[in-house]
Amino acid sequence: MKNTPINANIVQSVIDSFNLPAFGKATIREVVAMTNSIEKQSGEKFVRMEMGVPGLPPSQVGVQAEVAALKQGVASIYPQLDGLPELKHEASRFIKAFIDVDVPANNCVPVTGSMQGTFTSFLTCSQCDKKKDTILFIDPGFSVQKQQLVVLGCKFASFDVYHYRGEALRAKLESFLSQGNISAIIYSNPNNPGWFCLQESELQIIGELATKYDCIVLEDLAYFAMDFRKALGEPFQAPFQASVAKYTDHYILLISGSKAFSYAGQRIGIAAISEALYKKEYADLKKQYGVASFGNVFVNRVLYALSSGTSHSAQYALAAMMKAASDGEYRFLEDVKIYGERAKIVKQYFLENGFYIVYDKDLDEDLANGFYFTVNYPGMTGGELMKALMFYGISTVSLETTGSQQEGLRICTSFVKESQYEDLAYRLKAFHQDHPIQ
Ligand SMILES: Cc1ncc(COP(=O)(O)O)c(C=O)c1O
Repeated sequence: MKNTPINANIVQSVIDSFNLPAFGKATIREVVAMTNSIEKQSGEKFVRMEMGVPGLPPSQVGVQAEVAALKQGVASIYPQLDGLPELKHEASRFIKAFIDVDVPANNCVPVTGSMQGTFTSFLTCSQCDKKKDTILFIDPGFSVQKQQLVVLGCKFASFDVYHYRGEALRAKLESFLSQGNISAIIYSNPNNPGWFCLQESELQIIGELATKYDCIVLEDLAYFAMDFRKALGEPFQAPFQASVAKYTDHYILLISGSKAFSYAGQRIGIAAISEALYKKEYADLKKQYGVASFGNVFVNRVLYALSSGTSHSAQYALAAMMKAASDGEYRFLEDVKIYGERAKIVKQYFLENGFYIVYDKDLDEDLANGFYFTVNYPGMTGGELMKALMFYGISTVSLETTGSQQEGLRICTSFVKESQYEDLAYRLKAFHQDHPIQ
C-alpha cells in the first residue's frame, strides 16, 4: 500500500467494513460515519467536506427572540397550525423585500424546515389530480427529497440540467410536461450541489411551461440570496433573489431558516404559497379530504396530520430575524458571505492540483463562490475519486447520489476551517503527485 497522508491500512479496513455495493453511492451519513471511524482509529483529522451543515453560530437576533418567547411561556401552548400572525406578516414582508413579489401573509406558512415544506408539498401536489402522479426534478438535487418521495410511495422523474441550460431547457422540460403526468417541478436555486443559479430567462421558461401544463413549481430557496456575485442583501432594492414567482402564479417558495440564518437546529422555514394556488380548488382533493382548496388542504389537513404546527419559539425567532432583515438592521448576508470567501480559496487549491470544476457556468458567466462547488479529476469516476481522497484525509460525496449524470464530487465549504488550509493544500498536492494525469 502507498504511503498516503492517512494510514492506508486503516482507511481500507474501515471502507471494507461498510460493505458498500458501490462506493460512489454512499450516502452523506455513511461518509460521515466512515470518516468518524477513520479519524478515531488514525488520530488524524480530515478536511470535512461531505455534509452541508451551517458552520457558523446561529443568528443572535433569532436566539434572543426565541429565549424571550420561551421565558414568556409559549412552550406550553400549541402553536396555530397556519403560524404565528407576526411571523406570517414578517415572512410576507421579507419576500417583498428580497424577492420583490407579493405573497399574502395568510399564505406564508411555517414548517419544521424546508424538508417538511417539500414533504407537505409533494404529498399535496400529487393528490390534486390523480392523473398527475409524478414529481419532476430539475437535477442535480438534494437526494433526501427523493427519499421523501420513496417514503410517500410517489413517482418521480428527473433530468440533469447540465446540457439543458438556457433556451435548451424549454424543449427538455416540455418533453416531460407534455406527457400530462407531472404535478410539480422542483429545483433549488442556488443549486445544491452545483451552486449554479438558474437565470431569469430560465426561470421564465419554467414559469411559462408550468402555467401552460398546469403544474405547480416548488422553488427551493434553501440558500436564499446566497448568489454572492450580486448585492442581494438590500431590502426593497434591486437586485432581488431571482424567482419563478415573477413568471407563473402557481408556485410554492420554500424559504429555510437553516442556511441564511444558521438556524438549522431549530427546524424552521416558510412555505409561501401563491395566492392563485392557495385558493385553487381541485376535485380530487375534495374527494379525499372533503375540502377542495389547495391551501386549506396543505395547512389544515396535511400539516395538521404531520406535526400539528411548527415549534412555537422557533417561529418567534424567525419572525424577529425576518423583521430585522427587512428593516435593514440585520445584514444576514454579511454573516454568511464567509462561505463564498472560503470557496474561492478552497477551489483554488483543487484547481492548482489538476482538478477541474464540473458545473462551471451560468450561461456564459462563471459560477458564484458559495456553499458548494463540484470538481472532478481527469480519468476518474466520482466514486473512484471520492474513495481515493479518503486516503488523503479529504471527505466528500459523489455526484452520483444527486441525480447528476456527470462524474465528480460535491465539495461543501461550510465546515472547512482556515487552520486546515495548509493541510488541505498539502494533501491535494500529495494526491496530485501520486496520480499523474495521463
Ligand atoms: C437544497 C436544499 N433544500 C432543503 C434543505 C433542507 O433545509 P431545512 O433545513 O430547512 O429543512 C437543504 C439542506 O441542506 C438543501 O440543501
